[in-house]
Amino acid sequence: MKELRPFDSFPSNIQNILVMLEEQDRKEREDGLDRLKRLRQIPRETGEFLYQFLMILVPQYQHFVGLEIGTSGGYSTLWQAMALVESGKGKLISLDHDPKKCQIASKNIQNTIASEYITLIQADAKDYIQKCQESIYYVFLDAEKEDYVEFYELLVNRLPSGAILIADNVISHEKDLNDFLNRIQNDQRVSTIILPVGKGLALVRWR
Ligand SMILES: C[S@@+](CC[C@H](N)C(=O)[O-])C[C@H]1O[C@@H](n2cnc3c(N)ncnc32)[C@H](O)[C@@H]1O
Repeated sequence: MKELRPFDSFPSNIQNILVMLEEQDRKEREDGLDRLKRLRQIPRETGEFLYQFLMILVPQYQHFVGLEIGTSGGYSTLWQAMALVESGKGKLISLDHDPKKCQIASKNIQNTIASEYITLIQADAKDYIQKCQESIYYVFLDAEKEDYVEFYELLVNRLPSGAILIADNVISHEKDLNDFLNRIQNDQRVSTIILPVGKGLALVRWR
């Protein structure tokens, strides 16, 4: 595996964008901006974990394709894409149905080296998954909690053995995600571990 870069040796324009987004997200929460308008992004700890995890996963595939459900301003997208940049291969398809969020993300991602590895698509992820013809080996799910079960059902027969789904907020929103957690923990087609990283991650592996 290539050496992991610490955050302060990421390309400086990516560092600046990540710090700017952290500041914007913090301010929006402080100001009490409407939930759906806020960035609602992952904490830095989760970004670091996704980057490190993908540094192991991506090199295992000749043509790695990952899917992100919920781009928002592109914060988690950039963290994950940094592993593709380092590995020199792969593609991350990032989906958001909100045109304003897509505009913000596009502005943040363009002109960075990560843009070569990211395909940003404005679409409802449910429609996209049903129509998508690509082989997907990895999914990061960070959308509305009430949709997690539906996303899982759409993905479960579609992903190949060895594929990984990482779902965010499973500790912070444990009650809201009760059905989802029951579903992934009692499905023999997958194995699941819960990681106390950031707001809690479920790591689901297709057997
Ligand atoms: C929690 S935010 C994502 C934060 C982002 N992952 C980050 O850490 O920077 C959730 C995003 O999912 C998007 N979203 C919710 N439901 C969706 C759906 N069905 N299809 C596509 N995007 C969706 C919302 O517009 C919102 O921008």
